[in-house]
Amino acid sequence: MEPKLYRLPLEVRGMTSLDKEAFTQTITVPALRVPTGVLNKVVKSLKKSTIQRPGVPRVVQDKEESSDFRLVLLDPHSVSSLSSFSEAEALRSFGVAEELHYYELRLTYDNLKSEEVLEAVLPQGQDVTSAFSRVGHIAHMNLRDHQLPYKNLIGQVIMDKNPGVTCVVNKMNIIDSTYRNFKMEVLAGEENMVAKVKENGMTYEFDFSRVYWNPRLSTEHQRVVQLIKRGDTVFDVFAGVGPFAIPAARLGASVLANDLNPESYRWLQHNCKLNKVESKVRSFNLDGRAFIQGPLKQELPALLKGKASVHVVMNLPALALEFLDAFRGLLHQEPPTDENLPTVHCYGFSKDNDPDTDVVKRASCSLGFPLEDRCSVHFVRNVAPNKDMMCVRFTLPKEVLYCRGDEHTEPSEEPAPKRQKCEETTYSSL
Ligand SMILES: C[S@@+](CC[C@H](N)C(=O)[O-])C[C@H]1O[C@@H](n2cnc3c(N)ncnc32)[C@H](O)[C@@H]1O
Repeated sequence: MEPKLYRLPLEVRGMTSLDKEAFTQTITVPALRVPTGVLNKVVKSLKKSTIQRPGVPRVVQDKEESSDFRLVLLDPHSVSSLSSFSEAEALRSFGVAEELHYYELRLTYDNLKSEEVLEAVLPQGQDVTSAFSRVGHIAHMNLRDHQLPYKNLIGQVIMDKNPGVTCVVNKMNIIDSTYRNFKMEVLAGEENMVAKVKENGMTYEFDFSRVYWNPRLSTEHQRVVQLIKRGDTVFDVFAGVGPFAIPAARLGASVLANDLNPESYRWLQHNCKLNKVESKVRSFNLDGRAFIQGPLKQELPALLKGKASVHVVMNLPALALEFLDAFRGLLHQEPPTDENLPTVHCYGFSKDNDPDTDVVKRASCSLGFPLEDRCSVHFVRNVAPNKDMMCVRFTLPKEVLYCRGDEHTEPSEEPAPKRQKCEETTYSSL
């Protein structure tokens, strides 16, 4: 007898409201009748050939319901006859009869993978990718236009097939708001957008629809935090809900964390309490430039005289390089040595063929000082085809930090206009 393979049911194609029953089928799968005494060993040695389906047992009672034997179900795709069965030798050594039995297996929606369901439903020949990012109980997707008519069904399938996901959202557009959060639509499940996540041993809670959170940055957060030591001071200019600030404070650093988004600021404070670091973190709700030219400027002179390191973290990759001009002429009096100047970790996106050179050039332009050979560049991640996220790390040059009389720039209320014409900046003016 030939095994009857599972064929995706034709009638579900185009379904927009999920009918789980429509996926049920009875298929015939090959099986081996195995003495119970050697069952575990046989199942172990046949690992590659046994049936692998969510919720489907690999071992079942045989027809006679004998207590001496069980049926081990095989994968009908890889085993159609004993001659195609590569583990025959092993069977002989366990005393298992070399005879294929057949078992009628009822497969339901619960036994299918999400890709199989979506492949059956969505228009043939079109991409059915069901990729999503997970933020606590929320799965967030980025559906393509041709998937939108099926969005609620897709959401339901993702929720059914991923334990712990109780809400599925679709990003409505690419992030373009000031606060870097997405507009999103709930496709399935509860409307609760307050997520709780763990990252590098810390716990964060936030309203995912109103603040920025990216689970793909956890390695980067860890990389930077590892450079911080007890007693250091960290200025986090674009802090979000705290994934640099909070672990740095937990390590024993003093942290000044800022975010312009009032919601981020609120959740940042909440997360400081949640992680018991509120005494180590001072939080601000300012524009990044005002934060640099306000609280940072106030604290810096005393810190420069000390021994502990000072870090400035600037993770707003779309704009942070342009904010570097806020350091120009920030202070008036030069310290006796330049040993304790702050280390800046500034992020930037680059679409250039040579992203390292590109971000260093843009950072130099913004600072009005050549950073080439005075910085290191780290590739963080590829965010889109031809778009990389980079981090430039450098010691803030004292030539930038200290003004000479007329070079001092006052804090401005407005974010600075884009400074594209960097060629106009003359290094010699410093
Ligand atoms: C890319 S997110 C990074 C958040 C956090 N540091 C992280 O790694 O997840 C950038 C943050 O900058 C904030 N932001 C945007 N424009 C700002 C500005 N002009 N001044 C201060 N914060 C700003 C946004 O609200 C957002 O929380």
